[in-house]
Amino acid sequence: MGNPHTLTLTLTLALCLGADAVNPGFVVRLTQKGLDYARQQGMVVLQLQLAKIHLPDFSGSTHVSPLGKVKYSFHSMAIHSFQLPNSQVSLVPKVGLKLSITGGFIQVDGQWKFKTKLHFISGHGSFVLKVQGLSISVGLKLGSDGSGRPTIYPSDCSNHIGDVNVHISGKYKWLADLFHRSIDKALRKAIEKQICPLVSESILQRLEPILQTLPVTASIDNVAAIDYSLTGPPPVTAECVDVQLKGEFFNHVNRTAPPFSPPALSLPVDHSLMVYFGVSEYLFNTAGYVYQTAGRLVFTVTNNMIPKNFSIHLNTSSFGTLIPQISKMYPNMLMKLYITSTSTPFLTMKPGNVTISPMTDIEAYAILPNRTLAPLFLLNVTTTALAKLGVNASRIVGHLEISRVQMALKHSDVGPFSVSLLNAAVNFYIAHIILPQVNAFPPVWGQCPLWLTNRVMELANQRTGLFANQLKWSLTLDRLL
Ligand SMILES: *[C@@H]1O[C@H](CO)[C@@H](O)[C@H](O)[C@H]1NC(C)=O
Ligand SMILES: *[C@@H]1O[C@H](CO)[C@@H](O)[C@H](O)[C@H]1NC(C)=O
Ligand SMILES: *[C@@H]1O[C@H](CO)[C@@H](O)[C@H](O)[C@H]1NC(C)=O
Ligand SMILES: *[C@@H]1O[C@H](CO)[C@@H](O)[C@H](O)[C@H]1NC(C)=O
Ligand SMILES: *[C@@H]1O[C@H](CO)[C@@H](O)[C@H](O)[C@H]1NC(C)=O
Ligand SMILES: *[C@@H]1O[C@H](CO)[C@@H](O)[C@H](O)[C@H]1NC(C)=O
Ligand SMILES: *[C@@H]1O[C@H](CO)[C@@H](O)[C@H](O)[C@H]1NC(C)=O
Repeated sequence: MGNPHTLTLTLTLALCLGADAVNPGFVVRLTQKGLDYARQQGMVVLQLQLAKIHLPDFSGSTHVSPLGKVKYSFHSMAIHSFQLPNSQVSLVPKVGLKLSITGGFIQVDGQWKFKTKLHFISGHGSFVLKVQGLSISVGLKLGSDGSGRPTIYPSDCSNHIGDVNVHISGKYKWLADLFHRSIDKALRKAIEKQICPLVSESILQRLEPILQTLPVTASIDNVAAIDYSLTGPPPVTAECVDVQLKGEFFNHVNRTAPPFSPPALSLPVDHSLMVYFGVSEYLFNTAGYVYQTAGRLVFTVTNNMIPKNFSIHLNTSSFGTLIPQISKMYPNMLMKLYITSTSTPFLTMKPGNVTISPMTDIEAYAILPNRTLAPLFLLNVTTTALAKLGVNASRIVGHLEISRVQMALKHSDVGPFSVSLLNAAVNFYIAHIILPQVNAFPPVWGQCPLWLTNRVMELANQRTGLFANQLKWSLTLDRLL
């Protein structure tokens, strides 16, 4: 998986990106606190990158009486220490971020030598160069590309060095002291010239390629995938950056736009935690749409699924006690039910609860001795269920509870009968046989996008809540990853 710092930087920077043409299905809001966390991780990478500064050998000559012309050179320079102790990342509304580094310190060790016309006067020694008060300021423009991937470009980079000190040691130290001023100047120039290109390089060559290859879809199973591309460039305000993601399920084979659009999402005004998430009911409803149109919301109920101690078994004599024609027409046979969702099972989020009202058809068959199915009746059933949604360690989790079942007889092959006779059986089948299957159907409940790794979720202090049209949760990380 590569360098964990790089990944974290990607994670956090990727989270900082996001716009307004299309409402998102999923929003990640990164606050100043979240950015501070990202900065700590990013600085580790940047510091390593800047320590790659190349210090060129430096030579020159000067006149020193009575020696005459003295040729000197400074060489074999190596960075001994590179520290960027103070850094700050700030939000630049409508643009992106600004990274400011102050109080940077570099120590370089190297060798020096000199030669004069008088060949018996020559020498060499070592030196230590200390660069203090290095400051760097760079803007980071956040955007999104055509494929919905985040982009980040460096802009307005500048840097300044406060102080350069060369400490020379060796026999002819007094001599070297005569020309150290020009050394200070040359090295300061050499370092200042390289900082901004190296910062840009870190971003463009290390970070951008990662962003450019970030997946924007993830396969869920053989039917569906989820699209979490950015819906546009990230809106940046003085308090936060919003990453607005599509959050839309689609069919792998046949992607068609869902016949409904995402509602507006609003995140809380509170900015005290690092990250806030909002998941629109749109995400769940596109999942429902995809599985329903793919014909995957079909459940088969057979007698062996009915608990032995339940009074109504799936056989014609058992159903005959409710509807006598069934056992008269098909004596002593087992039965089978097909439960099919007839429309997208829409989920509605309200403060405190989620309701889902799937419309289903229940087709009942008698299984003839030669295995042929003989149709008995067709019911349409509207179930109102209460979904409990939450976020546990790594994913959005859901659990359904039935609150109401309404039935109507659509068609009968066994003559008219009152559907209310079937209430107990249908309620039982839905609650004890269908529901556990739905509850165990993970794709419908959504997967957290790739960026929300288990690791992040484990470290987080989370708060979850349901609001109009959305599930919100927020987290803050106590420790570094
Ligand atoms: C794709 O899906 C649409 C809408 O669900 C449907 O009308 C169309 O027939 C499908 N096409 C294929 C090739 O499955
Ligand atoms: C049927 O048995 C299960 C355990 O197998 C039990 O949990 C349930 O309460 C029983 N139901 C009835 C109606 O006796
Ligand atoms: C049908 O189910 C009843 C229980 O409801 C059971 O007593 C009976 O043996 C079953 N008949 C067949 C043919 O499976
Ligand atoms: C769900 O929330 C709505 C709005 O607060 C409320 O009217 C309804 O009674 C709640 N339903 C349940 C079953 O709690
Ligand atoms: C199965 O049996 C039924 C009734 O006995 C008959 O109508 C039907 O044609 C048979 N089907 C097959 C495939 O043999
Ligand atoms: C999270 O949910 C999954 C699926 O419901 C469950 O298996 C797992 O134990 C849960 N983890 C925690 C920490 O609650
Ligand atoms: C049954 O289906 C019809 C449309 O076919 C619908 O108008 C009606 O509301 C449904 N009834 C129930 C109880 O789901």
